[in-house]
Order: sequence, then C-alpha cells, then structure tokens
Amino acid sequence: MVRLNPIPGPSGRLLSSTLPNQREKKTPSPVTVGVLTTANKKGLPGGEKQRLLKEMVDYGKKQNIFIFFFFAQGVNWRKRRITGYVWTGKQWRKGLFLFPDIIYNRIRFRNIESQARVKQLLRQFERDPSIYLFNSRFLNKWEVYKALRIKKSTAKWLPETVRFNHKSLTTMVKKYPAVFLKYSYGSLGKGIIKVKRLSDNQFAYAVAKKGGSKWKKCSSPNTLYRQLHYLSENAYLVQRGIDLARYKGKIFDLRTQFQKNRAGEWVLTGVAVRVAGKNRFVTHIPNGGRAAAYNDVMNEVFGSTSLTRRQVDEQLEQIRSIVPTALEKELRLCLAVLSLDIGVDKNGRLWIIEINSKPASFDENEIRTAHWQNLMDYFIYVNENRTRGR
Ligand SMILES: Nc1ncnc2c1ncn2[C@@H]1O[C@H](COP(=O)(O)OP(=O)(O)O)[C@@H](O)[C@H]1O
Ligand SMILES: [Mg+2]
Repeated sequence: MVRLNPIPGPSGRLLSSTLPNQREKKTPSPVTVGVLTTANKKGLPGGEKQRLLKEMVDYGKKQNIFIFFFFAQGVNWRKRRITGYVWTGKQWRKGLFLFPDIIYNRIRFRNIESQARVKQLLRQFERDPSIYLFNSRFLNKWEVYKALRIKKSTAKWLPETVRFNHKSLTTMVKKYPAVFLKYSYGSLGKGIIKVKRLSDNQFAYAVAKKGGSKWKKCSSPNTLYRQLHYLSENAYLVQRGIDLARYKGKIFDLRTQFQKNRAGEWVLTGVAVRVAGKNRFVTHIPNGGRAAAYNDVMNEVFGSTSLTRRQVDEQLEQIRSIVPTALEKELRLCLAVLSLDIGVDKNGRLWIIEINSKPASFDENEIRTAHWQNLMDYFIYVNENRTRGR
C-alpha cells in the first residue's frame, strides 16, 4: 500500500511524501473531502456507478477540492488515519489519509448504515469538532412526516399519514377514495400497496410489482386488514392517495433535488418528471416508468400560459424556501443534498410524497452538472466558514 498525502500537487497529482513541498505551499490549501461509501465486488468504492464517482473527483479537481473515498472499516480512530481510495484519472489507488475537513456519507444501503460499528463511527465523526459531517444518515418516511407536520407552513405539503394498524387503516380507507401503504424505510417503489374504495363496502388493493399489479377485492375494511395484517405495524404507514394529474393518460411525479450552495442556502438543483407505465401506480423506472422533461409535461398538462402552470413553479419555490431548512431543524441534522418526490394533483397542487437524503443521481445531464457544481460550491462554503471560525 502506498502512503499518500491527501494534498494534491499543483497539477492535481498525488504526492507520496507526507509534507507539502515549497511549491505546494504557494497554492491555496485544498479542501479535503472524504466520501464514506461501500465497496463493490472488486473491493473498490461502489454504491453508485463508478462513472459518477469519477465525475465527482473531476469536478473537485477543477476547484482545488481533493476527494477520496473510504469504507467504515478503513478508519483508524486512534491514529486519526483513514485507509481509502483515490481516483488518479487512470486508476484507483489505495492510500492512507489524514482525517479530511469534510465527510459526506454516501452509504447507499440501509443495512450497512445501521450496523452498530458504522453508527458508532458516524457518531464519532459528528462529535469531532475538526470534522464537518453532512447528510449523516438515511431518513425514514415517518420521521420526515412527524418533523414537517409540526408547522402549518410545512404540514400543508403533506398528504395525511398515519401509522398502520387495524383502526388507522379502517379510518383512512373510509375517509379517502384511495390510500397508499408504504414501508417507512422503503425505496424504489418496493412494497408499496394501493387501496381503492370501489363503493361503501367494496375495496381493492394491489402491491406494486415490476411486472405490473393484480388487484384483489375485499368486501370490508376488516377483510382488507386481515389480508394485510402481515405488514409491520411499527414500520408501515397509511397515506392519503393523491389524485395525481396525468400526462398522456399516465400518472407522473416530480423528482426534485435541492442543495445548499456557495452561500450555504438551499437552491433547486433541478426537477425532472417520472411518468408511470400504463396502469401503474408507482412511477419508478424499474416499474415501467420513464423520464420526461419538467417544462414539456407541465406545459402540456396545465397549458404553458395558464395561472395553474405558473402556480406549480411558485409552489416549488415555496417548498424550496421552507421545507429543507425546517427538516434540518426538526431532525437536528446537517443536510446539504435532498431529493423530494412531489406529486401534482389534478388541480395543480403540489404534495410531498417522499424526502430522501441519499438521492440517486439524475440521468439528465443538466441536472447532474448542476448537482456537482452545487456540491463543490458547498464544500467551499463549509471550508471558508470553518476557517473563519477558527
Ligand atoms: N400518497 C400517494 N399518492 C399518490 N401516489 C403515491 C403516494 N405515495 C406514493 N405514491 C406513488 O408511489 C411511488 C413511491 O412512493 P414513495 O413514497 O416515494 O416510496 P419509495 O420509497 O418506494 O420511493 C411514488 O413515486 C408515487 O408514484
Ligand atoms: Mg420515492
């Protein structure tokens, strides 16, 4: 294993000595960022496509930001050293690094993040005054709902949600024409169940499946509960179903991303649309969904010059200015990247369906470029503010 200095030389090349030489001293000292991730099958940084990790490094280099990747087991707390990986532009190199200025948690698997030693490590980073940890953990749907329902200004964006049990299911299916059951820790549309009320005492439900869903009928809320009682009462939620607007006859939702920028303020990175497959009630691409452009869809659905169309943008702006900050405050988390799944109902009203602290990367190049730019800007912001505070 090579022993690398985490400080890149003027050309961005890695040094093998531990102290910067005279020439490096003249260049402003770079921000160092450690990205906590998980290994792929080859034991190299994984959790997302390699291309994305390389893109991140390239964007960093341009702005004198040095990025390395590491796994929880690579941290030697006593010596304050981390065994990690750098992308040199040609290959991955393993090295030993000093603790970085900033740590970004990009562990993409809940079962890894919830391991006792990983949780312990994240707590240690959080408490360490010389390290700035952000997006420290996954969110779950129930805590997000509880955090945002406190204030009217954030509660108004949320479809009513309750924890799943016999009583709450009965109340919700009687109250709303459609409800969604979802696992608080779920993702990718897995385990989502839709329940429709067909008449006063006729219900139908279906589980979202890759190949499409089969609807099953029930003649009362009791029989419905009996069929669904296998769902965990601690972890399943019942949510009011939003009567979503349709694009070419199919439902869609908005995938938005919000990030902190160079001034530490939340900005809208971008918004894309995911259109569900025919007769599907989840929009995820593995479930037959496809990507579409926000303006195209909104203009077609609501008319490009209509008041409703303008109000959709205005609502997005309201969400941007209120929701991420409120979430950080209520959950006492330091967040800098969030994705929000937002439903648009037939009247053009926006509803927050889910908030994610480990957003998947966007396929839309424009949004991804904006994402990298905001992320680098945020690193610079954090670094400047830390230096000032010292
Ligand atoms: N309350 C709801 N009303 C209408 N559609 C919903 C609702 N909740 C979820 N959906 C649909 O199911 C999809 C997945 O729900 P979501 O809560 O984002 O869970 P996941 O974690 O699986 O992404 C959404 O993108 C949307 O298409
Ligand atoms: Mg979602």
